[in-house]
Amino acid sequence: MTSAATTPLLDVQGVGKRFGGVQALSDVGLRIQAGQVHGLIGPNGAGKTTFFNTITGLVPSDTGRFALAGRAYQPTAVHQVAQAGIARTFQNIRLFADMNALDNVRVGRHVRTQVPWWQAVLRTKAFLHEELQIERDARALLDFVGLGDKALQTARTLSYGDQRRLEIARALATEPKLLALDEPAAGMNATEKGALRELIERIRQQGRSVLLIEHDVKLVMGLCDHVTVLDQGRVIASGTPAEVQRDPAVIAAYLGTGAHA
Ligand SMILES: Nc1ncnc2c1ncn2[C@@H]1O[C@H](COP(=O)(O)OP(=O)(O)OP(=O)(O)O)[C@@H](O)[C@H]1O
Ligand SMILES: [Mg+2]
Repeated sequence: MTSAATTPLLDVQGVGKRFGGVQALSDVGLRIQAGQVHGLIGPNGAGKTTFFNTITGLVPSDTGRFALAGRAYQPTAVHQVAQAGIARTFQNIRLFADMNALDNVRVGRHVRTQVPWWQAVLRTKAFLHEELQIERDARALLDFVGLGDKALQTARTLSYGDQRRLEIARALATEPKLLALDEPAAGMNATEKGALRELIERIRQQGRSVLLIEHDVKLVMGLCDHVTVLDQGRVIASGTPAEVQRDPAVIAAYLGTGAHA
């Protein structure tokens, strides 16, 4: 038995996934400690997004054991994963493009609503009270990610960087224990990346853990407590940023010398 103090927040082991002739993941595992930022890096096609998809219920894995905060969970449906406490953003931004920023965040908040559906139909006092609370929470989240003045702007008209921050706000609306970000800095300029780094630090300070897929080495090395490196569907290294940076298998994978094979 492991004690509560040492139980990882996320403990995923033995994940395998094949797409036709492609073995996208082979025996992939990682453990994320509570309150830590954990990087998942690797060359294009390494299997990073597929791993996210398996832990969040978007794609069924062939094998794997999944536990969050010491409790086994089955990533069979996206809303169950959200209720278990995992939220994510997407490499290709997925927002309700024609809805405004505020409504996009409100949608995320509904995962945590309490009032039964029939009260919504009858528009009871409890329902209206909850709706007001949801709006207040959503506005607070937009402030938190730096979009407070863009609440009523249609999502598709926001800049790329703002859309990525809106996705983070929507994910945070589900009150996740673990926030999984798939290349959040893609398409951002240096100033936006600086703001993103500071935002992830604040999310960590709230006691949440973050799993971060990112190609920007500076961002990964500056932010992460621990880094797992994937190459061709396998974990080739796992350790502190300094450890993985000098690991010969990692260097070989990135230089494409094949020396790690
Ligand atoms: N739905 C799918 N059907 C078939 N093959 C897939 C599917 N999704 C991913 N793959 C394949 O699985 C492998 C891993 O892809 P994945 O998108 O997970 O890599 P990645 O590490 O996220 O890469 P990138 O850095 O380019 O985003 C690739 O060979 C990819 O072509
Ligand atoms: Mg990817």
